[in-house]
Amino acid sequence: MKIAFFDTKDYDVPFFTRLGKERDILFKFYETRLNGDTCELARGFDGVCVFVNDDLSSAVIEKLYSYGVRIIALRCAGYNNVDLKACFGRIHVVRVPAYSPYAVAEHTMALLLTSVRRIHKAYNRTKDFNFSLSGLTGFDLHGKTVGVIGTGKIGRIFIDICRGFGMHVIAYDKYPAAGYDYVPLDELFARSDIISLHCPLSEDTYHIIGEETIGKLKKGVVILNTSRGALIDAEALLDGIKRRIVGAACLDVYEEESDVFFHDFSGHIVEDDTLARLISMPNVIVTSHQAFLTEEALENIADTTTKNLADFRQGAHLENELCYQCGNEEDCKKKRREKCF
Ligand code: NAI
Repeated sequence: MKIAFFDTKDYDVPFFTRLGKERDILFKFYETRLNGDTCELARGFDGVCVFVNDDLSSAVIEKLYSYGVRIIALRCAGYNNVDLKACFGRIHVVRVPAYSPYAVAEHTMALLLTSVRRIHKAYNRTKDFNFSLSGLTGFDLHGKTVGVIGTGKIGRIFIDICRGFGMHVIAYDKYPAAGYDYVPLDELFARSDIISLHCPLSEDTYHIIGEETIGKLKKGVVILNTSRGALIDAEALLDGIKRRIVGAACLDVYEEESDVFFHDFSGHIVEDDTLARLISMPNVIVTSHQAFLTEEALENIADTTTKNLADFRQGAHLENELCYQCGNEEDCKKKRREKCF
């Protein structure tokens, strides 16, 4: 089985080469992202393996299908970049639903602690033998209220971590589960000292932190986003910071990240003024979509992806298949352990 692997990072290659060999899958690694201009590279391959910023719009899917591609293996959980409707009946789509929710939840807490205890500033100071404490006053997390939006796999682990710190947790989820203190969204905005986003990006959640929301937030709130960039309207966030409503923001994702994240732009002029302005703020910390990046997660991503591909080759049930009909009670074939089409 031959798979064209797009948007390859150096850390992907050893894991996928090793597990690909074990399952008799040959990966051709391309550094370039998949889009309308590069999809020609997939001609003659059985499938493509893609990541969060590859373009799987209907025009690209059309071309991939005509080149003979029959499976898209997402090596991530989110799939907002795939036009599932355009794939239906032609190309099967599989993903890695969970590879290490701990990696993302722990990174979220790492960002929060770094921000509120000013670790990033202290690190730079002591590197320069500056041992002054001026301006480094933080605040205790113990006793603070954290509002968690999205109580799925990652959100729940983050909640456990927060409870370990003695924080009071309130939550919002479109599909509430037992064991959490759910409140309406506006109440969460009004009461939370810290807000952490762990819901997927959808029409419902697009700019869930936006111009209108900013006015509803508690003064000094810390906003954490390790989910998807477009959950936050970055311009509105900047405005909230300038108006001193938002006390700090920690962002592992950014709406326009596909043009900059994962690449080295040091020594270059970054064209994105909003990102440049955010990064210039003393109370904003940006990491470049690295929350998932642990040894354990990389092993799990490669293991599940190669298993998804091997199952497809063998005509077996595709446990991690996605389609636009999935979840539809009457028509969902996956529930009957069949392929989506
Ligand atoms: P999950 O599917 O287990 O949980 C998502 C939760 O969001 C569910 O409880 C669901 O009911 C809830 N939800 C759905 N629609 C909602 C809405 N409109 N409003 C509020 N809640 C809603 O997903 P998981 O594994 O916890 O991942 C969460 C997100 O984290 C993913 O969607 C992905 O975008 C992001 N992620 C980021 C990574 C990174 O490296 N920064 C790595 C992995 C995932």
